[in-house]
This record gives sequence, C-alpha cells and structure tokens, in this order.
Amino acid sequence: MARAATTVRSTGRSSAARARTVAGPDHGVAPGLHGCRTDFPILSRTFHGKPLIYLDSAATSQKPRQVIDAEADFYLRLNANVHRGVYALSEEATEAYEAARARVAQFIHAKDPDEIVFVRGTTEAINLVAGGMARGQLSKGDRVVSTEMEHHSNIVPWHLLTQLPGIKLDFVGITDDGRLRQDDLERLVVRGTKLFTFTHVSNVLGTVNPVRELAQRAHDAGALALVDAAQSAPHLPLDVQEMGADFVAFSGHKVLGPTGIGVLWGRKELLNRLPPYMGGGEMIRDVGKDDITYKDPPLRFEAGTPNIAGAVVLSRALDYLSRVGWDDLRSWEFELLRDAHRKLTDAFGDDITIYGPPPGKDREAVLSFSLKGAHPHDVATLLDAEGVAVRAGHHCAQLIMKRYGVPAMTRASYYLYNSTSDTDRLVEALRKVHALLSR
Ligand code: ALA
Repeated sequence: MARAATTVRSTGRSSAARARTVAGPDHGVAPGLHGCRTDFPILSRTFHGKPLIYLDSAATSQKPRQVIDAEADFYLRLNANVHRGVYALSEEATEAYEAARARVAQFIHAKDPDEIVFVRGTTEAINLVAGGMARGQLSKGDRVVSTEMEHHSNIVPWHLLTQLPGIKLDFVGITDDGRLRQDDLERLVVRGTKLFTFTHVSNVLGTVNPVRELAQRAHDAGALALVDAAQSAPHLPLDVQEMGADFVAFSGHKVLGPTGIGVLWGRKELLNRLPPYMGGGEMIRDVGKDDITYKDPPLRFEAGTPNIAGAVVLSRALDYLSRVGWDDLRSWEFELLRDAHRKLTDAFGDDITIYGPPPGKDREAVLSFSLKGAHPHDVATLLDAEGVAVRAGHHCAQLIMKRYGVPAMTRASYYLYNSTSDTDRLVEALRKVHALLSR
C-alpha cells in the first residue's frame, strides 16, 4: 500500500472542486475532500476483483494513516497504566490521557475537561446516564420521552428503566418526510417528563434535528435533555454550550478514531449528582467494609483501567478532522448528498424510495432507500459483488422501519473520503442489481 501524505492541506473550496474531477491514485476513484482518500490505506483494497467503494461510514468511519500511526506510537512509546504509577512512564501516559480529555473538551467546546467522561461508545454513555437515573433519581409517575427516530441504543436503556415501578416511556413520532412530529413534541414533552432524549442526526433518515430548540423545550417542561450525537459528531461542529442540552454522547470510531472509545459530556453539576454506573478500581476515594466514598466525576465513572490508547488516539483523530476544517467538510458532504440524491432519483425514478428529508440544511449524507421488487439484503449482497459496501437491514432502528412499513432498508452513507465518482459506481452497480431482481 502506498504511504499516504502526512498532512491534510486546508486549501479551501477550490481544491474540493478539483478533487471531484481528478482521478484518484488507486483505481480511478476521485480522491475525496482535499485528496484525503490517500490517507486511508484500507480504501485501496479490492473485493471480488473490484476496487472498494466504502459507503458505510454511518456504521464506522475508516481511519487515516495518521490515526493508525498514533495507535502504534502509543504502544511503542507511551504504554503504562494511568493515575496509578509514580514512575515517569506512567506519569507520561497519565498526561497523554488527560491531555486527550482536554482535547475532547476543546473539540466540543465544553467548559471544563472534567465534564468529559471516557466510555466505550455512545451506547455505554447513554446506559451510564440511564443507569445513574435508575438509582434514586426517578419516582413513580415520572416519564422519559424518546423518539421513533432513535437508534436502539437510545431506546433500549430507557425500556430497561421502565422496569422500575411507575416509570413511563413515550416516543415522539416521525412525519412522512422524516422529521419529528411537532404535535407529539407539544403533547409529550411537558411537565412530568424527567428526561427528553433524542438523536442529533438520524442514522437512517439523515435528519438533522434542531438540538437547541429541542433542549429548550425539555427545559421549559422541567426535564433534562440528552443528545445522541453519534451521527453528528463526525459531520457537524459540536458546541455543547450552544446546543444547550445536559448530556451529549458520541463514539470515537465514527469520527475517524478507534473502536471502544467514546465520550459522555455532561454538565458538571449533573455529573456530580449522578451515582456511579460501574464499581471498580480508580473510581473510589475510600473503601471500608461498611461504607464507601467515590471520586468526583469524571473518574467516578471510569472504573477499571480505561481505554488509554483509545482516548489518546481519538484526540489525534479529532486533530485530523480539525485540520480538514468544518466549512470544507460541510460543503463537500452537502455536494455528495445532493449529487447522490439526484443520481439515484434520475436512475430509478418511481422504482426507488429514498427516506428522510430532501437534501437541505437539515439533512446529512445518509441515504436509506428501498428498490422496488428487491429485498435490501439481496441488494447489499449484489452490491458487494461489485465492490460497493453498503449496509442493509433495520439499522438498529426498528421503530423507523415500523413507521415506514418496511422490514429493512439499504443504506449508503458518506464521509470526507468519498467522492461523486463513488456514487457513479453505486448507481452503475445498482442498475445491474435492479435489472437482475426486477426481471
Ligand atoms: N449505529 C451504527 C449504524 O447505524 C452502527 O450503522
């Protein structure tokens, strides 16, 4: 594999435009934003004799060489346990781990690094809040409101909570064009609601929800607001102060970082009130036989040896994203979305249903669709034979499938290394699939 360039140039929109037309170094695939595709070694692999077209970034992002190198560098130079050793190597590892926390805080504009809890991913972050609330923070008659647009990781933890006596769980519905229903918001996010939890960006519909407005609605009702930012953190600049919510969760592996590391941001006073989620080493101040006192957040929530390498490498991934720049990333992804939406619609007309809002400010480059007469799993399997990687299934969002009356959808999801030529390959492969399955 060719060694990739070591830096991402911030050369402005003109280079993005150029990248659309210049053939890539590997297999005639245009090289993504600022030519960054070459930073991602895995994208030069071939499958079934065809160059890989990776359109499953909503499931996990690919990693640039800079992030892969950072992982090796950690284990080559820095590996030791944190907050435990008095020797120099452990102190360096601790410094790197805490610097990563500060970097995450800066990335999402948190007031204080102590508001950043390292977890395994979005799922664990949400379970941490739900688990904490289950211990003494809810009483009979309290309600949690979620939405039909959620990933199961923002539904199931709340279902578990309803095992407590008298806790109700309600769901805001979805309009035909993939937005949250205003009437349900007005009806459900009212007094008696203790928490309103919602996704920032839908992993199926690509809908971008108005976080600030929804958080305000929760607060007006006297409820807390939790935001699942798993699908927004890779694509939108997050400013937790501007968002106005109380908890925000995201995963490292979707923002170019490693798997097994994620972030829960919480307002300091709320984290201070939340009881521990797991017990173990390094989260206690004092252990006696009859009583115990815990450390303050964030360490209270980081029992056991944390994912030290994961946190450090995540901070390098955030550095990479910051060098790319949000303005360029946003306009590139909007171009990818608009182009893909148009090409799929032009190619398949009434035979394709694309779910979610039309391309616009409240829509990310996630395209879930049904092709007439074809089961999504067959579509994805046949696309794989053409080297095109998409996800098919219920996307861990069965309430969305039920809302639209389908068992499954096929989903193409984009990121900075994709280009419009990837969509050409998708459409070309889909034409073959369509011809085969609609016979
Ligand atoms: N949440 C990820 C997805 O939607 C795994 O694919």
